[in-house]
Amino acid sequence: MHPQVPYFSLSEQHQALKKDLLHAIEKTIDQNNFCLGPDVDAFETEFKPFSGTDFCVAMNSGTSALHIALLLHNIGPGDEVITTPFTFASTSWAISYVGAKPVYVDIEPNTYQIDPTKIEAAINSRTKAILPVHLYGHPCDMDAILAIADKHGLPVIEDAAQAHGAAYKGRIVGNLGRQSCFSFYPTKNLGACGEGGVLCTNQPDLARRAIALRNHGSYQRYHYEEVGYNYRMEGIQAAVLRVKLRHLNSWLEARRSHAEVYHQRLATLTSLGLILPQEQVWARSSWHLYVVRHPRRDALQQHLQDHGVGSAIHYPIPLHLQKCYEPLGYAPGSFPVAEQVARECLALPFYPEMTPTQIHRVCEVLQAYPA
Ligand SMILES: Cc1ncc(COP(=O)(O)O)c(C=O)c1O
Repeated sequence: MHPQVPYFSLSEQHQALKKDLLHAIEKTIDQNNFCLGPDVDAFETEFKPFSGTDFCVAMNSGTSALHIALLLHNIGPGDEVITTPFTFASTSWAISYVGAKPVYVDIEPNTYQIDPTKIEAAINSRTKAILPVHLYGHPCDMDAILAIADKHGLPVIEDAAQAHGAAYKGRIVGNLGRQSCFSFYPTKNLGACGEGGVLCTNQPDLARRAIALRNHGSYQRYHYEEVGYNYRMEGIQAAVLRVKLRHLNSWLEARRSHAEVYHQRLATLTSLGLILPQEQVWARSSWHLYVVRHPRRDALQQHLQDHGVGSAIHYPIPLHLQKCYEPLGYAPGSFPVAEQVARECLALPFYPEMTPTQIHRVCEVLQAYPA
């Protein structure tokens, strides 16, 4: 009997940390620190080495952090924000929440990140920011993006929701643009036992306003200078994240080592149409996901499933072709690279606690896929 290999599992991680997590949660309950509070303050300080920034403002989700990031630049109706169509939807939600228009630019065929050579053509007088996403944890080509942004005086906001621990030319992802946003959704490289996110910046004025905006717009209790939000991180989530943060580096190493094994074991299949993820020489991926491509992706996914191996599609429909964005007026064929990658991508089982036997089994099943 072969082992079943789930696409993803948190059970092993939570089993190993259960005592520490329960202790941290118990302390929060005993001290009634539920909304913001000392654990949130401490987490904001402890996360700084992972964002590389002077300020971290913890929120209740990565989506909230992206929303606040755009508000900090006073982006609103009539404005445009340039971003990628190939990402999780909430990158674009943030643009829609402020009433601005997402303007998409196709992705690079080798990294799946926004293609910097196509950005400038999308800039006009309404453009107010560039919002690249370090998808799957692989950094975007930030020097090229920042050069265009500087030339046009635009802020760059990094969506680093999947990129905890990634680096670009030796610089930490999260400290490359004007602000960055990370998510602590449970499946992320660092995940809460619930929702969480953080906005990171080096600018004290932006941090100060973000701190107010996440807490009902209040700089001083019951005084409101602008309409704010209830985007506070919960104390229990901060307590959980503080426990887990101590393990983040070792989990990142495990991800990197699993990726290397997949790479070596699957190299022979590239002649049969399988495309492996390519970490660029200037990049250190956080290996949030290990995503391959195949021209007969759906049949390959079925084959894996028939043999007890999970997988997932991140993401099947690019945002410009989603029903909710029909009013933007994009048609199929607008972004051919994103559309092709959406048809062909398949995320293999991938999480730090995977065993060598499980990885071996995934490779074995892939190798048995008829060419
Ligand atoms: C690329 C990307 N951006 C934004 C988000 C939003 O984060 P959250 O789920 O914490 O709101 C996620 C994850 O869910 C994501 O993967």
